[in-house]
Amino acid sequence: MGRLIVGNWKMNGMRQESRRWLGALKARLADPVPGVEVVICPPFTSLADAAEELRGSVLQLGAQDTHWESRGAYTGSISAEMLAEVGCRYVIIGHSERRRYDAETDEIVARKLQACWRVGLHPILCVGESTPERKAGMTVRRLGAQVRLALCDPLTHGPVPVASLTVAYEPIWAIGTGLAAAPVDCAQGLEAISAELKRLWGAEAATRVALLYGGSVTAANCKGFWTEGGASGALVGGASLDPEAFSAIALAAGKVAR
Ligand code: PGA
Repeated sequence: MGRLIVGNWKMNGMRQESRRWLGALKARLADPVPGVEVVICPPFTSLADAAEELRGSVLQLGAQDTHWESRGAYTGSISAEMLAEVGCRYVIIGHSERRRYDAETDEIVARKLQACWRVGLHPILCVGESTPERKAGMTVRRLGAQVRLALCDPLTHGPVPVASLTVAYEPIWAIGTGLAAAPVDCAQGLEAISAELKRLWGAEAATRVALLYGGSVTAANCKGFWTEGGASGALVGGASLDPEAFSAIALAAGKVAR
């Protein structure tokens, strides 16, 4: 398993801007970074342009969300089938901003994971504790519950292709705040996630799940999450909007052996 660096643009990037950022990224990452896969997740409106822009490059395309059904009367939604058709390979699922602003529950997250697997997309499941949960010493329990409920929803009952699952530990207090977790906190969070995966599927299967860290990752702090923190990659928000900073993170990942 190599390293995975994912850029989450969130609700940023008008079409022209998106093309400009992708052009700058392609210029900086013209050659494959050994052992590193780089994924860009623009807003839905830029996906088709991005697919065109990234064709033939080493960069992969991802989306920031999907609906769980394949088609039907779901006004305003986009299905996993549509994302696959436009050229996505990855989908971010259960980001804390969606859980918070779009009332996304663990049950919905579970269904969305199944939708990704239905069409062969690789989901990146986001889990993370809030500040009050952290202060109350509930981090391990919270992460375990989010992982368990996302992967064992009684309504879905679908199979879990572990090798195509990525889980990102994103402490809510670290997202967009500039207050990244310390590598030791990252290691503890990933350990809690990994322990839950082992309980669910056993040790061997759990090792096949890629674990990322996300939350105020920059070119200056990224290394610690992979060395001391034990993450196999990063989910990058703010810094992914700057092609120079984001490519520096991807290049740094290539220098930290796995
Ligand atoms: P940030 O966002 O890097 O801006 O903290 C990370 C994320 O939300 O995935």
